[in-house]
Amino acid sequence: MDKNITANQLRAKFLDFFKNKDHAVISSASIIPENDPTVLFTTAGMHPLVPYLLGQKHPAGKRLTNVQKCIRTGDIDDVGDDSHLTFFEMLGNWSLGDYFKKEAIAWSYEFLTSPEYLGLDKDKLAFSVFEGDEDAPRDMESFNLWREQGVDEDKIFFLPKKNNWWGPAGITGPCGPDTEMFIINDKQPCGPNCSPACDCGRYLEIWNDVFMEYNKQADGTYLPLEQKNVDTGMGLERTLCVLTNKTNVYETELFKPMLDKIAELSGKNYFDSSDTKKAFRIIADHVRTSTFILGDDLGVSPSNVDQGYVLRRLIRRAVRFGKQIDMPDNFTPEIAKVIINQYCEVYPELKRNEKFILEQLKLEEERFARTLEQGTKEFEKLVAQMVFGGKISGRKAFHLYDTFGFPIEMTVELAKEKNLEVDMEGFEKAFKKHQELSKAGSEQKFKGGLADNSEATTRLHTATHLLHKALRIVLGEEVAQKGSNITVDRLRFDFSFGRKVEPDELQKVEDIVNDVIKANLPISCEEMTVEQAKEQGAIGLFGDKYGEMVKVYTMGDFSKEICGGPHANSTGELESFKIQKEQSSSAGVRRIRATIGGK
Ligand code: SER
Repeated sequence: MDKNITANQLRAKFLDFFKNKDHAVISSASIIPENDPTVLFTTAGMHPLVPYLLGQKHPAGKRLTNVQKCIRTGDIDDVGDDSHLTFFEMLGNWSLGDYFKKEAIAWSYEFLTSPEYLGLDKDKLAFSVFEGDEDAPRDMESFNLWREQGVDEDKIFFLPKKNNWWGPAGITGPCGPDTEMFIINDKQPCGPNCSPACDCGRYLEIWNDVFMEYNKQADGTYLPLEQKNVDTGMGLERTLCVLTNKTNVYETELFKPMLDKIAELSGKNYFDSSDTKKAFRIIADHVRTSTFILGDDLGVSPSNVDQGYVLRRLIRRAVRFGKQIDMPDNFTPEIAKVIINQYCEVYPELKRNEKFILEQLKLEEERFARTLEQGTKEFEKLVAQMVFGGKISGRKAFHLYDTFGFPIEMTVELAKEKNLEVDMEGFEKAFKKHQELSKAGSEQKFKGGLADNSEATTRLHTATHLLHKALRIVLGEEVAQKGSNITVDRLRFDFSFGRKVEPDELQKVEDIVNDVIKANLPISCEEMTVEQAKEQGAIGLFGDKYGEMVKVYTMGDFSKEICGGPHANSTGELESFKIQKEQSSSAGVRRIRATIGGK
């Protein structure tokens, strides 16, 4: 095995292997899910493919492979340790009702062991398969298929759902038992029951083949899917780390350019202390994720809601840790430049959106600096009242956090300088209560019949296309989609435009859309190459792979857009269209909220 394999080589090898097995190489989908209001980010390679796993025909065929940009921010506070990342790339191959366990397992084994690809030592590999429960049987088939490859029995572990089941990506949807692949390292077994299920570190997971043959229902039951699919996922960073024998992802070549830049700007060394190490890692991870969120063609800017809020938290946390190692002001764009350079060949959108990325990072750093200044003043006021010393109450610390966005760590630090303490227990209590309230709020948002939701969101999605076209007619061709978010009740559309849209212009846009609805134009979908779509004047997000097949939705002679769907059958189904609000979203980007009539 090549211990010096690079991220570029690993990506290329994976795609090349599956191309040779007749898979179409498709572009990474947007990191912001286009038609799934239940999650903020694309969390796995299969996520954008859900409609196809459920039976819709994919324009590129039944065998697909790609590298997908993914974000998981569930454990953002763990970033800084050896393994947590908020952004990662996932290598994957899919069968959409085509091949199943036999081929998937044989090919996985071939890719892992063949000298032409990873060339891993067969004795150093272990596998896990699903042990079976009331929802699905024990996966003897996968067990036997690994055995047929020559794997010894004692290298195959039967594990429960907790370990060997994947999905669905959201609340409902495709899922199934999986079989996972591990590299065994030099650590001794931690005990007689040592297995890939324990976290002693002997077994390092590198790949996961999911056999998606179930569809989880809202009531928690599993129904068989119409077609049997394969969904595999190999995390690029983690696999690179294991293959190159590094103890953690940050020490792979992938992170080197970022860490070098941080060292140059701060004058500190990554290995100085565990605190510097942690700060370097957090900065690298958070700026990388922020760069990919801002650099997506559907990129959002920092705000107090949804994806924008996550982005804001990431940037501010990076800046906060930057202060600990004396990073200069406005350092995040400097790190972003390194990241853009490093990744732009694989993700050309980063170059296309470079200006936006750098501007937004700078703006957010400046906003945060103002917040800190204001928060510090408030803190001083608070301290001035505490003439007898003592503890800053949890309620007051929370007030600083909640009202002024002042991070609790800063409160603790400043308090220490004044020989004061902070009632952390009280703070945690107030914080938890607040979290519970907002969690209840977001659950509320997604409640309601899922079937109704999907019908309503489909029609709103169609309205988004009509709005996009009408805006281009009224305001000109500089209008391009920057983001879209659909809930059951409304659509929200962000687009590039340099000034406020005047009321008479909004009226015109609304009238045009209503005319098109009245005309009840038919909606059709065709598959073609990106080049053909461009030739036909289709707008929308273009993939970057030459010859890639895409779907083009045509609405009468009014609109033609590249899009994965789904859509209404004709424009009349929308009944009516009303713009609720037009406002600024970020520099050069406007936002419209609108609703449609009917059901
Ligand atoms: N969906 C599975 C995962 O994320 C396999 O791709 O691990």
